[in-house]
Amino acid sequence: MALWGGRFSGVQKKELIEFTESVSFDKRFYRHDIAGSKAHVEMLASCRIIPPKTASAIKAELDRIQKRIEGGKFEFKSELEDIHMHIESEIIRALGDEGARLHTARSRNDQVNLDTRLYLRDETAKILAGIANLQKALVFQAEKNSGAIMPGYTHLQHAQPILFAHHLLAYVEMFNRDTTRLQDCLKRINVMTLGSGAIAGTTLPIDRKKTAAALSFPAISANSMDAVADRDFECEFLACLAIFAMHVSRLSEDIVLWMSKEFSFVELADAFCTGSSLMPQKKNPDVAELARGKTGRMYGNLMAILTICKGLPMSYNRDLQEDKEPLFDSIDTVLKILSVFPPMIATMEARKDRMLAAANNPELMATDLAEELVRNGMPFRKAHERTGSLVKWCNANRTPLDKISFEDMKRIIPEADKSLLNIFDPAKSISKREIAGGTGPRQVRSQTNSWKRKLQDKLQRA
Ligand code: ARG
Repeated sequence: MALWGGRFSGVQKKELIEFTESVSFDKRFYRHDIAGSKAHVEMLASCRIIPPKTASAIKAELDRIQKRIEGGKFEFKSELEDIHMHIESEIIRALGDEGARLHTARSRNDQVNLDTRLYLRDETAKILAGIANLQKALVFQAEKNSGAIMPGYTHLQHAQPILFAHHLLAYVEMFNRDTTRLQDCLKRINVMTLGSGAIAGTTLPIDRKKTAAALSFPAISANSMDAVADRDFECEFLACLAIFAMHVSRLSEDIVLWMSKEFSFVELADAFCTGSSLMPQKKNPDVAELARGKTGRMYGNLMAILTICKGLPMSYNRDLQEDKEPLFDSIDTVLKILSVFPPMIATMEARKDRMLAAANNPELMATDLAEELVRNGMPFRKAHERTGSLVKWCNANRTPLDKISFEDMKRIIPEADKSLLNIFDPAKSISKREIAGGTGPRQVRSQTNSWKRKLQDKLQRA
């Protein structure tokens, strides 16, 4: 029998029950629902709204329910709709009228909001630890391959030589922004909404700050209508995950390219690849491809929540129950990605010989040549044009840039001196880029060390 038996009668039809239930997915809130109920009854007792003995009995029963759920001995049935009703019904079944005091000054509207916040707090901690691990794997590779030189690309065309470590650390920076974005989002998740009731609070003299303190919330919500209607924190959280996934997807795309025959810059461990059922020679980077594909789903989840909320009149509407599956799906997906990416990255083999061979294209140093002319006093636009003409001449005469004779060079760049013939070495090019944020070896080493320290601290604290 549903808990609103006083107002409704008759047996709900099976199809209706199946349509409205959420316990099949929101049962994952059980720990948070129980923690919230324990804090709630403690507060009710301390405000003399329920007897202390009742609060103790309810808390003990909540602990027993938690044990039963964790031991697989608790039965979930769609008739009881959601996790909140399952737990409350069980309390009433065990404690009778005393149990019927649990839902005093509370509604499922504020309860579900609180549970979601408690749950997201826990999941955020897991995700942050996972991101730090992923960064650690990237930093490990940056250190292991600190001298590896590769071509840097823009438009997927050879641009300038860079250190492989610099490329990897670019992702460490992106993942750092993802971390700080989630930490910022956590501030808005971390608000205690219980006590908002169904919409307008309660006439009973509750102390919401007490509940907040018991559940380690630094703040309570200021408007009961806003509190039960608000899912901004979920939109924001899913946006954070979508941006993180976008970064993972770009890294995946790089890995897929690097794994191709044409690049052959890295080799992934067999454990992270699969073969083809048809082509015996194949070794496919499926993990990276799947992460790239799953990113699409995670954008979909963000769109789902935004769309669910956009047309809702104030305040709570049942539509909001639809927030959970996209939310859970994105969290599960991110945690799955974070369980396979760190070991995949850590075991990746960089093929430095292949990278260097690709970087040994003198055209990658064309900018260096122009900048050398600038160093000798020429305005940059003019130097750019002169160098462009040189590249054009070399292409037309099928002469690699570094094989041009000084006489030919002099004809195209009258200001040239012989030192220009010696700049076509990618290692030299990189060593000249020691500006802050540049790909110079000292810069990159100091970035690598600084990340190593920061991540060590973070992972120790986690
Ligand atoms: N299962 C519901 C949800 O997820 C809980 C709140 C239900 N409130 C209500 N008045 N029916 O949103």
